[in-house]
Amino acid sequence: MPVESVEMKPFYVTTPIYYVNSTPHIGHAYTTIAADIVVRHQRQRGRDTFFLTGVDEHASKVARVAAEQGLTPQAYADGIAGVWRELPVRLDASNDFFIRTSDDGHKRFVQEFLTRIKDNGRDDIYQDVYAGLYCVGCEAFKNEDELVDGKCPEHGVAPEWIEERNWFFRLSAYQDALLRLYEERPDFVLPRFRANEARSFVEGGLQDFSISRAGQPWGIPIPWDPDQVAYVWADALVNYMSALTYAREGEDLRDRYWPEVRHLLAKDILRFHCVYWPAMLLAAGYDVPQQLFVHGYLLRDEKKISKSLGNVVDPLDLIDVYGADALRFWCARVVTFGQDGIASVESIHERYERELGNDLGNLLSRTTAMIARYRDGRLAAERPPGPSPVADAMTGLADDVAERLDAYDITGGLERIWELVRALNRHVEASAPWGLAKDPGRAAELDAVLYDLADGLRAVAVALAAYVPTTSARILEALGQPSSIGWGEVAYGRVQEATGIEPASPLFPRIEAPTPTP
Ligand code: MSP
Repeated sequence: MPVESVEMKPFYVTTPIYYVNSTPHIGHAYTTIAADIVVRHQRQRGRDTFFLTGVDEHASKVARVAAEQGLTPQAYADGIAGVWRELPVRLDASNDFFIRTSDDGHKRFVQEFLTRIKDNGRDDIYQDVYAGLYCVGCEAFKNEDELVDGKCPEHGVAPEWIEERNWFFRLSAYQDALLRLYEERPDFVLPRFRANEARSFVEGGLQDFSISRAGQPWGIPIPWDPDQVAYVWADALVNYMSALTYAREGEDLRDRYWPEVRHLLAKDILRFHCVYWPAMLLAAGYDVPQQLFVHGYLLRDEKKISKSLGNVVDPLDLIDVYGADALRFWCARVVTFGQDGIASVESIHERYERELGNDLGNLLSRTTAMIARYRDGRLAAERPPGPSPVADAMTGLADDVAERLDAYDITGGLERIWELVRALNRHVEASAPWGLAKDPGRAAELDAVLYDLADGLRAVAVALAAYVPTTSARILEALGQPSSIGWGEVAYGRVQEATGIEPASPLFPRIEAPTPTP
């Protein structure tokens, strides 16, 4: 769809809220970075955006670990929440709010939300006894057939037997409504193969699930039965709506952003998001989200990276070495967004050197050095007439990238921009400006080449702003260009006159190669 015809409705993006008691790893950074790229891009297009991330605090493990450390669960959660709040900051993510499920505003809203379901006149919340195997890692009951050698395949631990009287949500009553939703809105869950997964799960028959836990000190009390607390998922999912009610004092942002919400998440929590959550919203009488995008896992040694499996890649270490932009670039590029893929520290190093350092960094160094040397640092806003391979390479770029990003294809959008980077590098080689500079009779040709290189790099910088915001700003600055990054600037021939251009210092200085991981 061409960019002009995209409806300019508000655009609200969420990541899952991360368990406060785990340690941030590359998988968490991955969703946050992807969401940030998507939302920054929409902002460049002039869209009214809101980006939410945060932490999920009421997992039963929090209370256990807090007790082991002699702390109240709240004190323990307060102590570790800061690491998570810092994560998006370090990733250069532009979230508008950071939710904690222990926020009063969230707790109050969850109570209201569950009460709305209870009072919907359809008996959708009822009491029953539940007995079953519970995996604390997943915070979910498991059937025997979901276990491998008696253990949860995600966490490698045997689930515990739990038996208690709980409040149940009548999920089974929403089977038809969910199937109708998937049918009527084929883009509700993307990619399509994930929508099929959700549909087959629902077609297989839905079991009611318990939305409360008895005898737990930590959680949001069930308003009509305060001896029980809300099941962590019945509490956590509601964050996507609750945040809008108190993120801005005195405003209910739901008027602006609900249901224009896009949830980004990995496949591990597809059922909760694509099945349970829309059913809960329907039961509470709210509109379901606009869209859910379910991406794959970053794998290491063919296993999902996670703390419990002990193969964590710490995103903060990678940022210390390579910088946030390089990590963002690599996350978008290393694996086609949506698929599973292998993440290794060697591959970030390789892309840092080859693509960021050589393709992009050297291009800027060469271009600015040539403008400094051959034109005394002056960049003209007029180009001598004549055909331009750079103008050709830029044809359709803005629409192509926008179309890919509208479809969450952050990998494809970046590849499309990189086609231009490669075309610019080819242009340097083919036109050999250093040869033109030796021949005063070819001054106009040299002017045209320098104009095209500067203009191409300028457009690359604007197009890349959602992916690598700091690098983008540095390129514009080195070329003496304004910092405005409106999407309309991704077009040929918009470079502005500049003087005083100096050879730019390397965008991505050389870094020693990492020692290979065992
Ligand atoms: N607290 C719940 C989510 C509640 S949302 C209402 C939870 N938290 S989590 O800390 O386990 O984070 C899960 C999410 O982290 C995944 O859906 C995904 O976004 C991200 N990832 C965790 N590991 C990942 C990989 N190895 N690869 C890609 N993303 C991964 O579940």
